[in-house]
Amino acid sequence: MAKLIGPKKVKTAVFISGTGSNLKNLIKFSKIKSSPLSIDLIFSNNSKAKGLKFSGQFNIKKYVSSLKNSKLAETKILDLLKKENIQFICLAGFMKILSKSFIKKFNGKIINIHPSLLPKYKGLNTHTKAIQNKDKIAGCTVHFVTAKLDSGKIILQKKVKIYKKDTPTSLAKKVLRQEHKLYPVAIKKIFN
Ligand code: GRF
Repeated sequence: MAKLIGPKKVKTAVFISGTGSNLKNLIKFSKIKSSPLSIDLIFSNNSKAKGLKFSGQFNIKKYVSSLKNSKLAETKILDLLKKENIQFICLAGFMKILSKSFIKKFNGKIINIHPSLLPKYKGLNTHTKAIQNKDKIAGCTVHFVTAKLDSGKIILQKKVKIYKKDTPTSLAKKVLRQEHKLYPVAIKKIFN
């Protein structure tokens, strides 16, 4: 990652599909002096993603494409990323799987936050699975994105206790709070 470090912040795009609480958190983090990133683009595959409102609120460019014709759509995104000089991508609640060739073009420069302690519970419904399996500990992971779903090198993890009274919803809330703490720390770890 050393070659990305310079006097200027690394131009970053955040990819979202939904609420965007991690996006908002990353935008706030990017404004701190010690943040290695600036958030310069928001991409969503879902035109109804609530998180798109942060584009207007923080004056950040946005781009929406359903990625239905994924090859062509990905080419368009790559063109845009190039035009905007984006060097790094943070996935934050992005529910679409990017193609191998897309990931290859940003090799080592895409990271994701996942609501489980990987390698446990890749994919969806992580909190339901943890509760069904009577786990005592849940958590979240920031990892590099590779072509294999939720399998890239782990950057940082944070554990969260599961209590008997927890439901998938209450657990999701607790984990999300930790996600907001973890993502900036993981980013600092990569760039320092
Ligand atoms: C987070 O739990 C993230 O880990 C998962 O989807 C959720 C997105 O939340 N992939 P938000 O859109 O950032 O609020």
